[in-house]
Amino acid sequence: MKHLTGIDTLAADDRDAILARAQEYATRLEKGKPVKTVLQGRVILNMFFEHSTRTRTSFEMAAKRLGADVINWDAGSSSLSKGESFADTVSTLNAMRPDAVVIRHKDFGAPEYVANNVGCPVINAGDSWREHPTQALLDALTLRQHFGGLKGLTVAICGDIAHSRVAASNLRLLPALGVSLRVIAPPALMPRGLQDGIKTFTEMEDGLPGCDAVMMLRLQKERMQEGLIGSDAEFFNRYGLTHDRLDLAGRQAVAMHPGPMNRNVEIADDVADDPARSLILKQVANGVPVRMAVLEKLLSI
Ligand code: CP
Repeated sequence: MKHLTGIDTLAADDRDAILARAQEYATRLEKGKPVKTVLQGRVILNMFFEHSTRTRTSFEMAAKRLGADVINWDAGSSSLSKGESFADTVSTLNAMRPDAVVIRHKDFGAPEYVANNVGCPVINAGDSWREHPTQALLDALTLRQHFGGLKGLTVAICGDIAHSRVAASNLRLLPALGVSLRVIAPPALMPRGLQDGIKTFTEMEDGLPGCDAVMMLRLQKERMQEGLIGSDAEFFNRYGLTHDRLDLAGRQAVAMHPGPMNRNVEIADDVADDPARSLILKQVANGVPVRMAVLEKLLSI
């Protein structure tokens, strides 16, 4: 494993080792136990060309928990504003010899370009609507912790599937771990070419019954043509996750959301904040141990 640019590039044994190690780190962090500083003396370069709260902070936290130093390169104050190209930016920063690059970019495949042009491991922190592999790994870890296993679970991914890199990575990862997936979306937000075995629904009332977890997604208006869907209120009325809809999935069903949330558009306030049925902050917490395990795996080679 040289890079983590997408779920398809992750071999099953590496995936399983990362999830196992992430669980060890999650347990240690929860108990407040110190973590061995396996990355002391290493420098991780965070290159975020799109905004982020969870992913950038948790990569920084993960690297620091392992003893590494982190540079948060800032696109807005960089020489991109003077006309320097993306390619020159990458080769310039590579010349300073970072030990790993974490990249988020709006363009499809930007992490692969970086991986092919730098001398260190590259981790995709989200590109376009294509992939967000560490989000899918932390979602899998969160489901496994809550249910005690993944095989046989049924999970519905709902909302803006077409523009979601989180959905794209989860559609690859979760079935490989034994999860039965359903996709619920308005026709305009339903992607084409879904893998065999994934059931699709256009109404929540049809797709939710029998689900163990309901993963809501943010409406990605920045990647959407204007007028593709109706108003926020119309969307919430038809697709928003309320307690009634969560109960339709099952009385024990849980709510997930990768964040950032559009409250009362994809998910009702009282569902998002329900400590018994919302795993949303657990997902956030698991971002740190999962990214620790990924950094360790890539940098220990
Ligand atoms: N889930 C996620 O990627 O959140 P951020 O955009 O805040 O990193």
